[in-house]
Amino acid sequence: MAALLRMEGITKSFPGVQALKSVDFELEAGEVHALVGENGAGKSTLMKILAGVYQANGGTIHLKDSVVVPSGPRSMIEAGVGVIYQELNLIPHLTLAENVFLGREPLLPTGRINWRKMAQEFEALIELFDVPLKPFTRVSSIGPAYQQVVEIVKALSLNAEILVMDEPTAALTGHEVNRLFEVIKKLRDKGVSIIYISHRLEEIWRVANRVTVLRDGQKISTLPLKDVTIRSIIKDMVGRDLEDQYPKEKIDTQGEALRVEGLFKQDICKEISFNVEKGEILGISGLVGAGRTEIAQLIFGYRKKDAGRIFLHGKEIRIEGTWDAVRHGFALIPEERKEQGLVLGQSVFDNVALPVLNSFSRLGVINYPKLNAVIRKIIESIGVRTPSVRQIVRNLSGGNQQKVVLSKWFIRKAHIYIFDEPTRGIDVGAKVEIYKLMQELARKGAAIIMISSELPEIMNISDRIIVIHRGRITGEFHHGQASEEEIMHAAFGVTQDAS
Ligand SMILES: Nc1ncnc2c1ncn2[C@@H]1O[C@H](COP(=O)(O)OP(=O)(O)OP(=O)(O)O)[C@@H](O)[C@H]1O
Ligand SMILES: [Mg+2]
Repeated sequence: MAALLRMEGITKSFPGVQALKSVDFELEAGEVHALVGENGAGKSTLMKILAGVYQANGGTIHLKDSVVVPSGPRSMIEAGVGVIYQELNLIPHLTLAENVFLGREPLLPTGRINWRKMAQEFEALIELFDVPLKPFTRVSSIGPAYQQVVEIVKALSLNAEILVMDEPTAALTGHEVNRLFEVIKKLRDKGVSIIYISHRLEEIWRVANRVTVLRDGQKISTLPLKDVTIRSIIKDMVGRDLEDQYPKEKIDTQGEALRVEGLFKQDICKEISFNVEKGEILGISGLVGAGRTEIAQLIFGYRKKDAGRIFLHGKEIRIEGTWDAVRHGFALIPEERKEQGLVLGQSVFDNVALPVLNSFSRLGVINYPKLNAVIRKIIESIGVRTPSVRQIVRNLSGGNQQKVVLSKWFIRKAHIYIFDEPTRGIDVGAKVEIYKLMQELARKGAAIIMISSELPEIMNISDRIIVIHRGRITGEFHHGQASEEEIMHAAFGVTQDAS
């Protein structure tokens, strides 16, 4: 079959980084082609070159047998290339429909915007995902998962011939992922070709025909999915065999650390009661919008609860604001990292160092050598891929930015860690390191709450799992006790049989 798209010998460098080294990439008509590789391997850069966002230093792009030279993003949209970018790009103070049709608003004969048509077109697209989003809701009032759905809808509305999806499922849970895959299949049947980037390797078998692996800016392989295994893909990505994707050590728990009783907040949650022991990892599962993040924020004092009691080491404590939580030794690693966790214009070093400066200074003098050593160690063990600790965070790849946020929390001491989607967008090798670091904290007596949308991670790493459905606990399982199906049932609100 003739290729619809052929990228040949694509080269790209940034100051201090050779991001792509003569990469070849091919896409056939009606194909779903997965593109994988470690954080910083060059996936997004290759796609931004295709989209006309970056200019390559060398190489050619052939679309349907003619050479195209992108002159900016608009030229490539016109050539039929639509991209769902890894970073969310919606404008917060505009409505969902305004964002989707920005610059392409349907007009009335008078030249004014046809709001009714805009709403109808939005609704027709959003229907595909079965989510409760209204056209004239503001972006700022919806969470990252729903924003991701809106980004997808926006790209679909372009009616592109080639659709690039750069980690579209990073913020989604099983149900929305299933919806997305149905949409992908429909598009493919209509002849749309799709390039699909994901760090959730298990899912690429469900959608893609072929997979291309990049490592360190080089193409390692392109193969039909029927000829590869998860192991062989990981090997191509990492350059070596990965012993165990989900290392789990047995840690003895040491008594109750945290107990939450009757947490209640109007419209968010009801009767949330659970506890976590020192040394335990408690997984929290549920669908997008179930209220998991909000529950974490209520405990942490980031939102005000209507009722509920919190006990730390058996004693009731009052948490009226985040300051109280921090004082009592809570750490909340937020889901929306870019807004809540990073200063993009600052260096890696400054981002990690800022929150711990106090604990590294005596009488106002900072012990830089010690701070430096600690930061280098954590950055190395999580595997932040950066030319130096002085690099500006904005210039790191998406996954490496996440790793910077995590680093800064791992070097902070706390009794209770609440990780909200700790491995979102992070590559397989680094995930393993993060699981190990979490378990190291647990071994030292910390209690860990891990909110995650990735079922394999929840099932393999948690000692216990609670499932939230519409702000209530609908299931509780011990490690190894539940199947994926049972957890999904609870997530949909089907309560388990009393046994
Ligand atoms: N604007 C930029 N300035 C400097 N370096 C950059 C810039 N954009 C990307 N890079 C570098 O290019 C390399 C490839 O980055 P890219 O974003 O393509 O990785 P990726 O494969 O998409 O990773 P991830 O899985 O983390 O999203 C990285 O080393 C990154 O730091
Ligand atoms: Mg990327």
